[in-house]
Order: sequence, then C-alpha cells, then structure tokens
Amino acid sequence: MGLAHLMVFRLPGRLVRLAKIARTLVAYDAFEAFGLADLTPTGGRIATALRRRDLPERPGQRLALALTELGPGFVKLGQVLSTRADLVGEAVAADLTDLQDRLAPFPFERARETVERELGRKLDELFSAFDETAVAAASIAQVHFATTTDGREVAVKILRPGVETAFARDVDLLAWIARLIERFVPKVRRLKPTAVVETLAQTVRFEMDLRLEAAAAEELAANFTDDPEFRVPAVDWTRTARRVLTTERVAGIPIDERDALIAAGHDPQEIVAKAARAFFRQVFRDGFFHADMHPGNMFVAEDGTLLAVDFGIMGRIDRPTRIVLADMLAGFLNQDYRKVAEVHFRAGFVPATQDVGAFAQAARAIAQPILGLPLEKISLARLLAQLFEVTEQFQMETQPQLLLLQKSMLVCEGVGRALDPGINMWALARPLIEEWMLANRGPMARLTHGSEALLERLEELPALVTNLDRAAAQVAGGGVRLHPDTLRAFGTDRQPARWPWIAAGAAGAAFLWLLFR
Ligand SMILES: Nc1ncnc2c1ncn2[C@@H]1O[C@H](COP(=O)(O)OP(=O)(O)O)[C@@H](O)[C@H]1O
Ligand SMILES: [Mg+2]
Repeated sequence: MGLAHLMVFRLPGRLVRLAKIARTLVAYDAFEAFGLADLTPTGGRIATALRRRDLPERPGQRLALALTELGPGFVKLGQVLSTRADLVGEAVAADLTDLQDRLAPFPFERARETVERELGRKLDELFSAFDETAVAAASIAQVHFATTTDGREVAVKILRPGVETAFARDVDLLAWIARLIERFVPKVRRLKPTAVVETLAQTVRFEMDLRLEAAAAEELAANFTDDPEFRVPAVDWTRTARRVLTTERVAGIPIDERDALIAAGHDPQEIVAKAARAFFRQVFRDGFFHADMHPGNMFVAEDGTLLAVDFGIMGRIDRPTRIVLADMLAGFLNQDYRKVAEVHFRAGFVPATQDVGAFAQAARAIAQPILGLPLEKISLARLLAQLFEVTEQFQMETQPQLLLLQKSMLVCEGVGRALDPGINMWALARPLIEEWMLANRGPMARLTHGSEALLERLEELPALVTNLDRAAAQVAGGGVRLHPDTLRAFGTDRQPARWPWIAAGAAGAAFLWLLFR
C-alpha cells in the first residue's frame, strides 16, 4: 500500500485529535503561552464561549493544565518545553517545570508478568517479598518495594505495559502537527516545533530503556564514591533488564519538607548548601548531572547525606562548554558585559556577523534588573534563561544541554527557596566555585571585588526594563538587525496576523461536531 493510502486512513483520526487539542487549548486559554493572543472577532467569540471559569492567571499555568488534560504524551511535551526558555520564554518555561507526571498504577499481575518475562525467572525466585501496591506510578513506569531472595531491600521500577505504542501515537501526532505548523503558521515557526518534537521523541526513547537509567545511576554513583554529602542507590544488575530496574532501597525525608527536616534535627541551610555543592560538582567537575532534581527525586538521609533517585533524564556538558559557561557567569557577576559578549562570540555561539557591542548591550539589559535584586532573590537560572532568549534573537541555537542545565538550576533554586527563602544557594557554594575557577581558569578569572560589592548592594539599580520584550524592542529600536521571525514575534511588523487556529479550523466538520455536540 502506498504512502498516500496510509495518509488517507490516518487523516480523519488525526483531524479529530487535532480538533480536541485545539478545543482544550482554547478552553484553558492557553494559546497565549505561545505568544498567540490576538484573535479574529469570530475566533474571539468562540474562545469566550468555550473558556473555563476560574483559570489561573499566568499563561504558562493555563498551558500546564491543558497539557495535563491532554494526557501523558503532552505532559512530556510540556516537560520538554520547560527546558526551552529560549523558545517559549522564561516565564512559561518556569511554569511548565511544575508539571506532574502521575497516573493510576497498572495492576500487580502486569508487573509480575513483566518482571518474569524480562528476567526469565519466577518472581519468588528473585524476591522473597514484593509489595503489590506501587509506591509511585507515572506515565512511563511505576515503582514497587521488594526484598531480594538474598535479603536486600530494593526498589523495583517497571515499565508500563504498552507504553511504547502509547507514546509512539502521541509523538507521531505531534510530529504531524509540527509539520503543519511549520508550513501554515509562520508566527509559530520561531518555536521550532519539529525540533521540539524530535527532542521529545529522544527523551522518551531514552527513558524507555531502564538499562540506560541503571548505567546513568552507576556513573553518577562512581563520580561521588568519596563524597559523604551526596549518594546514589546501587544498581542490582542481576535484577535489571530493559523493562525492569532494581536498585538498593534508600530512605529519607523528601528534600522540600522543611518542617519534617527540622524535626529530624537537620539544618535547612546546611542542606541547601550541600545541594548547591552537589549540583556544582556534577555540572562543573564531572560534566554529568541529574537533570530531574525535583523534590520527588531528592531525599535527606538520617545522617544528612543527600540521596537522589530517578536517572531517566541526565545532562552532559563537555569540558570546553563548561569553561565557556564559567567565563560567562563570571562575566555577569562582575558586570562585565563586554566580556559576556566576547565569550559568546569566541565560543562560536553567536555568528560573527552579529555585533559584539549590541550583544553586550542586550546582556546588560537583561542582567542589571536581576543582579540589582537583593542577594537572596538573585536567580542565576533566570539570568541564564533570559540570556538564552537574547541569544535566540542573535540567531544563535542554544545547545540543548545548556537548556537542560538551566531548567535544572531553576528546579534546584526552587528547592532551595522552599528550604530557606532568605538565602541564595549559589552564594553558599561560592568557596567551591572560586576554588574551581582558580584551578581551571587561573587567577585572572577570579570573581573581582566588584562582584562582591554587587551582591551586597541592595536594590540600588533602577528597574531599567521590566521584561525582555521591552529590552528586545529597545535593542531593535537601536538599529540592531533582528531576525524577521523575531520581529514578527514582537509585533513590530504590521502584517495582519493570520488567525493562528486556521489549521484547527481545517478540521471542519470534526471540529464543529466537537465544539457543539
Ligand atoms: N531506590 C529507591 N529507594 C527508595 N525509593 C525509591 C527508589 N527509587 C524510587 N523510589 C520511589 O519511587 C518514586 C518514583 O521513582 P522514580 O525513579 O522517580 O520514577 P519516575 O521516573 O516515575 O518519577 C520516587 O519518587 C521514590 O519515592
Ligand atoms: Mg521521579
């Protein structure tokens, strides 16, 4: 059968699902998250009729709700978008980091079948006890506690039966939508939909082989063997296969439960300091970091050691990029924007056709409002996110690994804030950071005295710009050549915006049926 036939068979189903997606995005008023707020009069009327009451205020929060309703594939898409501050903007990306991937567990019998098929032995030959109730269930896998026949307490993570086909269907649909968008909705092309879907497909593929997760756990454990502050559960390879991962069971208090931690005699500030050090060591010392460090995956053991689980998403940063990143952050903290710009150009991050001075100006515009905040409010993750938005305008492709790093920093800062809102976690890691810089970049790269002064100065700087859009508009006004897509995104070109849901409208009867049935 030819390709054309396949298309004809798939099309009706796809159109119906497309209509459902459009309807859900409208109901949650979520198009704004993609920078699409202007509707035609007809579109506006339909949207008002469909919109739910009591929606949260921020577009990113509304998008998160819509994606949750659309199901696991879309929740994963949201998680991928949460690492694309360069595309969707810092605020929307931050709201998407809260997306919870939780589902009802699949039955114990399916879990047993999977374990027995994958490991080729009966469950009771492998485990002397096996909790039938899952401790946690997500879209890709669930976890059961068990005891091995040789008496070790373990956690057994098992892939959801049929998960490959379920995700393949969503990924396939999203890839089709991405291609439609790239062809018909120029305004959204800037969001690089096909590239985003490709990242989604890759992430999911990786997470669906638990041997890879086991390998990641072991590599991370090896990097921290001599470190009393951070620990990773050991892998039981004899009870691990593509669909089953068995690790040593660890026990601790979830890292964001401040009151419970204090009651157990831990000092929240010390925990934040440890978390900051563990993060810094992973990123800069090893170039291999846990990229899903939300509170559900981080615990504090009785002796105060930090414990991490869940190694499905890891980031890698090669050494040259780490050095560039360090120089860039040092440039920011020293408020040497020329240096920040030069680092980008020297690393080839920004095409040489762009203007160094204009880039430095844009860097200053985003950094000053952030660095002017009181120390405990300064977020390096926000700074990076805004920087990535700027670099996007200078036609630079931000490296996916750096985007993953930025999101991880954001999550880490969130944990820090939950534990002690009055401190800056990176300031706690400062001695370590300086030591690393000294060893790797030499004395010239030391944070200057000025940066110290900066970090101590409170709220002196006027709020030059309140958001990036204005900053970028100023840069554009200053005669910098911006990418046409970017200009369109800022609304500086006056072409009438095409109704963004035209693609959804193409679903015709299916759409109307769904809208008004
Ligand atoms: N080795 C372990 N020891 C103790 N609890 C674990 C272990 N591994 C996982 N868990 C528990 O199971 C939950 C889900 O496991 P996780 O690997 O994070 O799966 P998911 O990828 O679905 O988030 C964790 O949040 C944790 O509570
Ligand atoms: Mg988890």
